[in-house]
Amino acid sequence: MDFNFSEEQIAIRDTARDFAQNEIAPSTIERDIKAEFPFEIIKKLGEFGFMGMMVPPEWGGAGFDAVSYVLAMEEISKVDASVGVIMSVNNSLVCHGINHWGTDEQKERFLKPLASGEKLGCFCLSEPEAGSDATQQKTEALKDGDYYIMNGIKNWITNGKNSDVYFVQAMTDKKLKHKGISTFLVDKDTPGLETGIKEDKLGIRSSDTCTVSFNNCKVHKDQLLGGEGTGFKIAMDTLNGGRIGIAAQALGIAQASLEAAVRYAKTRKAFGSPISNLQAIQFKLADMATNVEAARNLVLQAAWKKDNNMPYAKEAAMGKLLASKVAVNNSLEAIQIHGGYGYVREYLVERYLRDAKITEIYEGTSEIQRVVISRAMLKD
Ligand code: CAA
Repeated sequence: MDFNFSEEQIAIRDTARDFAQNEIAPSTIERDIKAEFPFEIIKKLGEFGFMGMMVPPEWGGAGFDAVSYVLAMEEISKVDASVGVIMSVNNSLVCHGINHWGTDEQKERFLKPLASGEKLGCFCLSEPEAGSDATQQKTEALKDGDYYIMNGIKNWITNGKNSDVYFVQAMTDKKLKHKGISTFLVDKDTPGLETGIKEDKLGIRSSDTCTVSFNNCKVHKDQLLGGEGTGFKIAMDTLNGGRIGIAAQALGIAQASLEAAVRYAKTRKAFGSPISNLQAIQFKLADMATNVEAARNLVLQAAWKKDNNMPYAKEAAMGKLLASKVAVNNSLEAIQIHGGYGYVREYLVERYLRDAKITEIYEGTSEIQRVVISRAMLKD
């Protein structure tokens, strides 16, 4: 692995950093309080090529590598993890899936507008009774001539309210269990597609999360991705890459927590001098910095392996497991260093903790990451 970033990777990181500081930061606090979706910001991210970062330019994307994606995701999430998850789902779940398994017609129709940021996508796998145990899909899509008739309910869908394209896993043959799951690209205007109320969440409040139900939705056979029965494979493979995106989101929160703690420790005085002179505080900062750097190296390693066509599922799971833990720990420590000020909205660190927690839950809980890692280790 090369520890020097290329000029292009540095330019992408710096562009993301400037955009986050100048265009996202001014409205982050208000959008968190009001749980408001960042429509304008997402549109501008699309114009920068950040909504289809790894999609080739011929299909509307920016053609960047996964390392650049990690660098940009960290910078955006450092300022606003809600924007980070909206971007991550569109990039590494929806666009990746269509880019990898779509036909040219599907890429023209669905990928181009998603990758250019003109449209937004969501990933519909989880169901009320199929979260970690994702094989237990109840949503069905039964063939009827040139169409499939889709019925079922999905929950915890990030971007669910505001998406144009729904990337949906559904059973086309229940007898085959997970080998009977297929993936469909469903338009938001499809009659029978309905979204439920927006969840009132602890963190990442300006992203939207809701249930999506399919009530006798007619989906044309041209909207089947990758062939019948390949849906679970597509979902698992897609989530391997998605976990790099969420790990990078967690890195952003962990780094933001560290920087806020350093800033505060240097200015807050106690016992006659800044608290950064106290060894109790210095040791906390040293641990926070060490842990975020270790997590960053692991996440970049997973991205580098992906860029070099090497197996990366285990490293992506390790990166997400570690980075999400560091995000939670660093935000807790940042609050501790701030004392009472860390517990109120005026200072940023309480939001970092609220935003960090979800990174240990979505795109596979930390327990599921350990399943993926241990199975990869023990399979030979
Ligand atoms: N990569 C590629 N293939 C994988 C895989 C991986 N990481 N994990 C499992 N598979 C394959 C297996 O090789 C197997 O293939 P075959 O049938 O061809 O042999 C198949 O999937 C079934 O695997 P298992 O027998 O291991 O199935 P299992 O039920 O014991 O375990 C699981 C599967 C790993 C637990 C899986 O269900 C899982 O990853 N669950 C978590 C689901 C998840 O991450 N949900 C996130 C929701 S999306 C989201 O959060 C997005 C958002 O909005 C932010």
